[in-house]
Amino acid sequence: MTTEAIAILDFGSQYAQLIVRRVREARAYCELVPWDAPHEQVERLNPRGFILSGGPASVYDEGAPTLPDYVLASGLPVLGICYGMQLLTHALGGQVAPAGEREYGPAELDVLRPASLLFAGLPSSITRGMKVWMSHGDRVEELPPGFTALASTTNSPIAAMGDQARQLYGLQFHPEVVHTPHGGEIIRNFLHHVCGLTGTWTPASFVEEAVARIGEQVGQGRVICALSGGVDSMVTATLVGQAVDDRLTCIFVDHGLLRLDEAERNLERFRRLGLNVVFVDASKRFLGRLKGVIDPEEKRRIIGEEFVRVFEEEAAKAACATELGHFAFLAQGTLYPDVIESAATASGAARIKTHHNVGGLPTDMQFKLVEPLRYLFKDEAREVGLELGLPEEVVYRQPFPGPALAIRIVGEVTEEKLEMLRAADAIVTGEIEQVGLERSELSREVWQYFAVLTPAMSVGVMGDERTYETTIAVRAVTSQDGMTADWARLPHDLLARIGGRIVNEVPGVNRVVYDITSKPPATIEWE
Ligand code: XMP
Repeated sequence: MTTEAIAILDFGSQYAQLIVRRVREARAYCELVPWDAPHEQVERLNPRGFILSGGPASVYDEGAPTLPDYVLASGLPVLGICYGMQLLTHALGGQVAPAGEREYGPAELDVLRPASLLFAGLPSSITRGMKVWMSHGDRVEELPPGFTALASTTNSPIAAMGDQARQLYGLQFHPEVVHTPHGGEIIRNFLHHVCGLTGTWTPASFVEEAVARIGEQVGQGRVICALSGGVDSMVTATLVGQAVDDRLTCIFVDHGLLRLDEAERNLERFRRLGLNVVFVDASKRFLGRLKGVIDPEEKRRIIGEEFVRVFEEEAAKAACATELGHFAFLAQGTLYPDVIESAATASGAARIKTHHNVGGLPTDMQFKLVEPLRYLFKDEAREVGLELGLPEEVVYRQPFPGPALAIRIVGEVTEEKLEMLRAADAIVTGEIEQVGLERSELSREVWQYFAVLTPAMSVGVMGDERTYETTIAVRAVTSQDGMTADWARLPHDLLARIGGRIVNEVPGVNRVVYDITSKPPATIEWE
């Protein structure tokens, strides 16, 4: 790895992926690694420094996560955040103790040493009473030898500490959350001034490294790449194509769970981009396997498995058709949140849902995976798409999950429900796009908008008749990376048009509701 990298050790913080984001915004590559991951996994990154995340434990708890020996032994710079700071203190001979009561929320920080590298460049007007976000039960009572207190709050006399000679730093507050408005600058100072990074991780450098790495992994092998029409798979196919030329074959599978006219539109899009894509209509077999299935995780598993079976069959056919040999590799546009959210990590993060392309793959799959975007967030993948020259229409397309409408129908998937949902969804997207919202200032923020077919049946009145029909939920969210989201404040007249049209135009629907939950505590998709 030629990139300047940082290893972030995850001690179970709910904010860990935000640390990743802040580091990457400073144009440094980083990966989140469970605190007890094997040392080789960290070494592979060749890090230039460590960040230790927060976590729910107390350093004195039995079985609490500990600081791996290799961190201090490396002599590299370390920034401990919250629990990470307490671990550093504990390991280096200081004192950690309960703070009296748990401190959660905003606090005002007074920087005691403005000359510290961590606070470089922050004007004196903000180093007194700087807004920071606290979330901790324990705090540092006594500094380890060699450390100086760099900042304090009323509740935490040692709210930041540093040992400049050994390049070790600790922050009691969370610089990674938006409620610490200058937190990004503090993290950047650590990366640039303490670790000596120069911010070389850019979309162009990513493309160069990704193409080289794919070339190394694949050698003279052949790759099959599943295109969905979305940005992730298009970026993946373009990167793989640059690395292996004609040893790449792209396929597009219609699993019968696509939106209205989506298959035709995708094929047209591929044609316009000059892509040679094998089209497979596998709708019957997917819908057959989903018959009677209600559990969302089971749906995801079935779809993930069925995709791979189709790829295997198509790969065998394509291999027979040419002299180029069999396909050993499957390229997928898996993103970092799919990996994070599908994993139940050693650090204790909970498994939320199994993204079809991560946990849904069959264990007997013959392909080796090529996943160049595995460590990128969606907005980073989009930047790479622009760097590769993909059209904006592809780059900014709203995300659409692999299991598609199957996870937007709560309960069993049937042809009838699919038809209803397709019609309702086309109204939602059509109306939103009609007012140009997807191209407005909000556009980069309105992450997704779609319809969900709920299992709720309710009573209505149409003409003089009683009805007892299906409820459609409309979901529109704003988000930066899909990891957290808020419901979009769509204009009321737009919502009124959407609701009115759905009940009037979609047979079987007599009620429309707008989903006003954020993520967390809900997720974006209903299943
Ligand atoms: P949730 O529902 O977990 O969704 O808040 C976060 C983002 O991920 C998309 N999503 C998926 N994408 N395969 C995918 O390719 C999946 O299995 C999957 N599940 C959710 C979802 O649309 C949202 O953008």
